[in-house]
Amino acid sequence: MITSAFAIVVLQILATTTIVSGASVMHTSILEYGDIKYLVSKNVVGTINIDSTSITRRSNSSSSLNIQTHENPEIASLVPSRHKGQHSVWEMAIPITIIALDLNTVSNNNISSEWLKATITSMLSADDVFGPFFLETVLFGVFGKIQQSPTIFEDGVKVLGSLGVKDHSILRVDDSIPSGPYFLQSGSIYQAMRLYPDPYGAFMYGVMQSEDGFARPHTELIPVPSRLYTNSSLPLSSKRIAVKDIIDLRNLPTSASSKAYAQYHGSSKSTAEAIQHLISLGAVIIGKTKTTQFANGETARDWIDFQCPFNPRADGYLDPAGSSTGSAVAVAGYDWVDFAVGTDSCGSIIWPAALQGVFGLRPTLGVSELEGVMPYSSVMDTMGFFARDIQNFQLLQEVWYDKKGQRRQKPSRIIVPSGVLDSLPSDKQSVMAKFIEDAKISTGIPLAEIDINELWKSSGLAPRDISYTEYLHSTVAHIQIHESYINENTFYNKYKQKFGRYPYINPMVMHKWEIQRQNISMGDYQEALQRMAVFKGFLRSHVFNGGAVMMLPAGSGEATYRDELIAPESIDVYLQSFGFDNTFYSILGGLPSVVVPVGQRPITSKVTKETVWEPISMMIVGQAGTEAQIIDFVRKVLTKSGRPMGVLVGEKAF
Ligand SMILES: *[C@@H]1O[C@H](CO)[C@@H](O)[C@H](O)[C@H]1NC(C)=O
Ligand SMILES: *[C@@H]1O[C@H](CO)[C@@H](O)[C@H](O)[C@H]1NC(C)=O
Ligand SMILES: *[C@@H]1O[C@H](CO)[C@@H](O)[C@H](O)[C@H]1NC(C)=O
Ligand SMILES: *[C@@H]1O[C@H](CO)[C@@H](O)[C@H](O)[C@H]1NC(C)=O
Repeated sequence: MITSAFAIVVLQILATTTIVSGASVMHTSILEYGDIKYLVSKNVVGTINIDSTSITRRSNSSSSLNIQTHENPEIASLVPSRHKGQHSVWEMAIPITIIALDLNTVSNNNISSEWLKATITSMLSADDVFGPFFLETVLFGVFGKIQQSPTIFEDGVKVLGSLGVKDHSILRVDDSIPSGPYFLQSGSIYQAMRLYPDPYGAFMYGVMQSEDGFARPHTELIPVPSRLYTNSSLPLSSKRIAVKDIIDLRNLPTSASSKAYAQYHGSSKSTAEAIQHLISLGAVIIGKTKTTQFANGETARDWIDFQCPFNPRADGYLDPAGSSTGSAVAVAGYDWVDFAVGTDSCGSIIWPAALQGVFGLRPTLGVSELEGVMPYSSVMDTMGFFARDIQNFQLLQEVWYDKKGQRRQKPSRIIVPSGVLDSLPSDKQSVMAKFIEDAKISTGIPLAEIDINELWKSSGLAPRDISYTEYLHSTVAHIQIHESYINENTFYNKYKQKFGRYPYINPMVMHKWEIQRQNISMGDYQEALQRMAVFKGFLRSHVFNGGAVMMLPAGSGEATYRDELIAPESIDVYLQSFGFDNTFYSILGGLPSVVVPVGQRPITSKVTKETVWEPISMMIVGQAGTEAQIIDFVRKVLTKSGRPMGVLVGEKAF
């Protein structure tokens, strides 16, 4: 195959434009290649001037097309049959690969076979969108000051052939288009996306970024753009991030898992600042993930408006917890998702991270930018995230949060509340005890068991001689029930004003509102705020003083299933935060909490009766503003004790 003459085609780079029809729907075409589905996004990166080209040539302006090098039955067969006969071949989307050539890659007018092989191989390994489908047609885009058309000599052509390239051409490009997979359709070059199914039901819907905000594709599959498009000078370049559906994305509805709320809310006018910040750091937002209704506590059985996502671990029927359920499930289930953003008021990241066996961060209170996020509780709301490996986990923490809230205090003591592992099954205890031991050995930081109640009593802060757990029995519950009630009930009444009738609300949320109406007075709420302040001061001065990090079990004792009914007397403890839970140090103290998957144990599946693996997780809590130091501490422990730096997707975390 002979390379075409130089510069017969001009590729004009347009600004990325979006064709939006209706409020926020992108009309897009889907192509199938074996099992893999691709989407022709409407992000146009360029156009090919039609006049005369060896790639495609239209004989005249009517719809006939004569594709000189594309009389290729395989490509024709990729056109969905419903389109056949309606569209000319010219209008079909043709998969192409663009490879950018500049002075650095072309020497002596010679595109070497070694360079070709290395470039294409590295593109294939860096990206899950790029693949053989796109390689049949390769366009080399020349930009910069190359005067003469470069040439691919015989050995180079052989390399291309061995990689499945049937056709190639060299074109002059006005500006650089990133190397990668694209679709050529009606003279325009579009970004290519791969469509992934969501078998665990983690997503509300997939999204596509556009100049003007976001749009939804015409499919329930989740579109991800090629990782090759992104600007590698940005820290989150090519990282794909899913976002909990209580966070606004411009042009799209926010549902908070309520059909009525989505209707009331309509399309968001702007994107939440924290998400805009992620985009400015190079990240790509790929979808909205499911949440419990208004981010309240609900079991899987309480989800009525939407179905609760499935925990990918073990037999697929373990309780996934909430409220940032879909975010944790997406990270535990799909290797094509790098991070998922969640929010945590009363354990909404900590619990799902623990039960899905992924890394999770509930940051220090006050460091998250919460503009554009549905409020829950002003004194407890934080925005954090999930990740599968410590490197990515550390990266996102470093670049996303405001440095002002951060403190540079390294951990100086490891503390473990005495007896904190005692109620757990013995195999969980030993996995956690081993992690604590590894932490001590690998960091050289002294470890001490502490008796929190002794410290509490001797602190002089306890107003009466009562244990801290008694003192705090209703504190988190009263604050979160009262504050979320005010936020949610405002919506309830406004909905009535707007639509003339009340909206449907999930039963657990209704139950919670009933607790507020019957049992929580303004005095109770203020008392709870005061107790929170006392305990916060106690934690700062008597527990975490001098840079302590506390290691605690995260998640449940025995595995629980998504179909289990909770005994009525336990519901308010489990879902409304009455009693005392290990997450309360972080919640009441406004302290950062890092969830780390530390192992797994065999259990007999209630469903299949076979052995399956339940994740085991711990959380590490430290002083306000020290999340970076805690993550660094975890990284050191994993590295020095020779543990895996991350978890797998699917049934087994390790
Ligand atoms: C343009 O296409 C039409 C329809 O295919 C055809 O009838 C006509 O002859 C073509 N004109 C030229 C100049 O090729
Ligand atoms: C092209 O470059 C490669 C590597 O530098 C070299 O091995 C090859 O001989 C060159 N081919 C020609 C025709 O100059
Ligand atoms: C990549 O990002 C950097 C930093 O924002 C910017 O200066 C540069 O122009 C960008 N490059 C491209 C090709 O967009
Ligand atoms: C309110 O408190 C009373 C007394 O403790 C209890 O019987 C009742 O069930 C509570 N109401 C709700 C809705 O939980």
